[in-house]
Amino acid sequence: MRWSERQRAMLREMGIEVWSPIGDIRPAEAADAVPEPNPAPTAVGPTAPVAAPPAPPPAEPAAPATTLERPTVDRATIATLDWPALREAVANCRACALCESRRQTVFGVGHEHAHWMIVGEAPGEQEDLKGEPFVGPAGRLLDAMLAALDLTREPGPPERQVYIANTLKCRPPGNRNPLPEELARCEPYLVRQIELVRPRIVVAMGRFAVQALLRTNDAIGRLRGRVHRYQGVPLVVTYHPAYLLRQPADKAKAWDDLCLAAEVIERQGAAGP
Ligand code: URA
Repeated sequence: MRWSERQRAMLREMGIEVWSPIGDIRPAEAADAVPEPNPAPTAVGPTAPVAAPPAPPPAEPAAPATTLERPTVDRATIATLDWPALREAVANCRACALCESRRQTVFGVGHEHAHWMIVGEAPGEQEDLKGEPFVGPAGRLLDAMLAALDLTREPGPPERQVYIANTLKCRPPGNRNPLPEELARCEPYLVRQIELVRPRIVVAMGRFAVQALLRTNDAIGRLRGRVHRYQGVPLVVTYHPAYLLRQPADKAKAWDDLCLAAEVIERQGAAGP
């Protein structure tokens, strides 16, 4: 791939140094070809750790963990909803105990027919406050990663404006890991979002997104680097941005994964998936 100066700047922001053949660089950009003292290493074995949420703050009140005796989410009904009805169903959801501790639900953001759909894990504190996914530190890294591919969450055409959603629509208290039952109860909403967007590629970020979509407990390191399918839609697995903030050495791998996703879209051409 060839990179514009803006994309190079974004990659530097991500901590990734892109090497270009000298002939590929305009004179004004030549300084960019000088290696930085600390380029991101690329060699990590298949047992690389998977994303885990940040350590919980100590004084957070814990919500009751049980989801027993709560109304279930009716998959068949959810599967018929349009965007406004789905948004309302999520906003009113009381299917698990997370509804007791959330400030608000975090539905999703972006183009309703985006070519790219990013699926994360669960809202954190900032997302719970703002009602939008990935607005904290991990979100800033995600935005930089997207910008390096000329993608954005801001309004734009469907090939540029992505759609971002989480596997869970409510914040687990203290940013603890989602519980299996919470994931199961929330899943129909994500399934419907993917059906409505009909993206050309899904990028699943982190262990819980991957578990929910691919139904596997395999580590990210074993699943990344190839194209999976979710309900007929190509799906690429990568590390969660929060994990990358803790393990910047793996940013280069995440970049490779995004480039693989871009190739999938390029191969589809105008025809779609
Ligand atoms: N991590 C996620 O997976 N999603 C968010 O919205 C924020 C952090």
